[in-house]
Amino acid sequence: MMINTISTTPFEGQKPGTSGLRKKVSVFQQSHYLENFVQSIFDSLEGFQGKTLVVGGDGRYYNKTATQIILKIAAANRFGRVLVGQNGLLSTPAASAVIRKHQAFGGIILSASHNPGGPDGDFGIKYNISNGGPAPEKVTEAIYEHSLKIMEYRITDTAAIDLAQLGETQVGDMTVEIIDPVADYDALMAQLFDFERIKALFQSGFTMRFDAMHAVTGPYAQTILEQQLGAPPGTVMNGVPLEDFGGGHPDPNLTYAHDLVDIMYGDNAPQFGAASDGDGDRNMILGQRFFVTPSDSLAVLAANAHLTPGYKDGLAGIARSMPTSEAADHVADALGIDCFETPTGWKFFGNLLDAGKATLCGEESFGTGSNHVREKDGLWAVLFWLNILAVRQQSVETIVREHWATYGRNFYSRHDYEGVDSKAAHELMENLYTTFSQLNGQPFGSHIVEYCDDFSYIDPVDHSISDNQGMRIGFQDGSRLVFRLSGTGTEGATLRVYLESFEKDTTQHHLDAQEALAELIKLADEIAGIKKSLGRDKPSVIT
Ligand code: G1P
Ligand code: ZN
Repeated sequence: MMINTISTTPFEGQKPGTSGLRKKVSVFQQSHYLENFVQSIFDSLEGFQGKTLVVGGDGRYYNKTATQIILKIAAANRFGRVLVGQNGLLSTPAASAVIRKHQAFGGIILSASHNPGGPDGDFGIKYNISNGGPAPEKVTEAIYEHSLKIMEYRITDTAAIDLAQLGETQVGDMTVEIIDPVADYDALMAQLFDFERIKALFQSGFTMRFDAMHAVTGPYAQTILEQQLGAPPGTVMNGVPLEDFGGGHPDPNLTYAHDLVDIMYGDNAPQFGAASDGDGDRNMILGQRFFVTPSDSLAVLAANAHLTPGYKDGLAGIARSMPTSEAADHVADALGIDCFETPTGWKFFGNLLDAGKATLCGEESFGTGSNHVREKDGLWAVLFWLNILAVRQQSVETIVREHWATYGRNFYSRHDYEGVDSKAAHELMENLYTTFSQLNGQPFGSHIVEYCDDFSYIDPVDHSISDNQGMRIGFQDGSRLVFRLSGTGTEGATLRVYLESFEKDTTQHHLDAQEALAELIKLADEIAGIKKSLGRDKPSVIT
């Protein structure tokens, strides 16, 4: 084997965000581009020689090509061993599980999550550390710094590895092991949930549809739901991962998972429906003609966690992102445990999970997870629901309605104004800041302002401070309005308005969220002047 040192020149604009580096496929296809970034990752790390790296991705276009390149660079940089998911596949939560189980030094995940794939779509790469979670900011900053001044990278001249063949191959001194992408994850799920009981549920004729959206969870869902748990064949739909996700947008929400939504709202709807995104970390939960908001889902999982083997001893605490509804807080109160409110983004949960302060965590954006890995986990949430359904023998809707009757209901909705003028959106946020100083204690419609601030978070573990995490107004009756600009959009700016009201009285629970929130929706526009300053008369997406 020869190790070649290749001269290169740095590219502009390689700054990775919290979810890694995401660009169009054509950008990654530029010569040296991926190589530069991978070498920059390795140059930012110390002491990995002889250690284990995990590599896998969501199966989108360029996943296999990128995997081959990474293997050659890893060998040239003297990793000892690389565990690669068969055919280059590993869901994001499975990659996290594999890193933890095999005590790997770290892992490289190839994914652009729920963004469309294919030659004209997006590609992405991110580095996870040994706890299985995304690299902290100081590591991603270091990678970025390296990528700005990189002059050469090291790569072997070895032949491509057969990614389809399970087993070991040598690349120089480095061993490449192609692993079953599902096995370690499956074993972990079997520890957490009562597979026998779920099997009995399916044997009794329980019906379900899981929409893998032609993304990475197909093989996971087929193995676990259909083969292990005995769900009838066909339970998993769109189960074959495709490089372009079948032309779809693999994001599990009521808009993009329309195949599933049509079935769950149609005649003869199955009893349970669920979907996951491109890389398997998001989830959507549906009952028969019934949508469970991600905020409610987190609260229901927390309230019923004791029914599952993995969480039968109770929860240390719950964590939710600030814009996520306060439904989980009511459960935490009843359980006498802490509920942490973190800024948007999964990375803020890592410290709480590592320190044993929180067991479950979730975001309103279809992300739910626990301390079993350090990523959010779509299929895990689905299995958690199945375990609860198997024990309680009630419908999804009944479980949620009983939950509301016990804890009260947090009506919730998110209104997104996508692709708006960036300057106007920033001005709107600045004006809010000024308006806020005059709002305290003021009546607004039938609401009285209790607090309004620009959310700032002090990490309870490392005491780091994160400012400017969104403008929020809390009213005395438990209603909230939150305004923030998206950190993940690619065109212009996206304003997200999160609306929430709390209703203890169950007679209101027949209402649809938009009806229940009508007054707050009006107030949000009055306070922020959305329509006027953004020139939009309605949100582009309502969740
Ligand atoms: C969005 C979601 C956020 C999630 C992130 C990454 O970020 O709102 O909850 O953590 O995607 O999946 P945003 O575009 O709002 O910054
Ligand atoms: Zn994702």
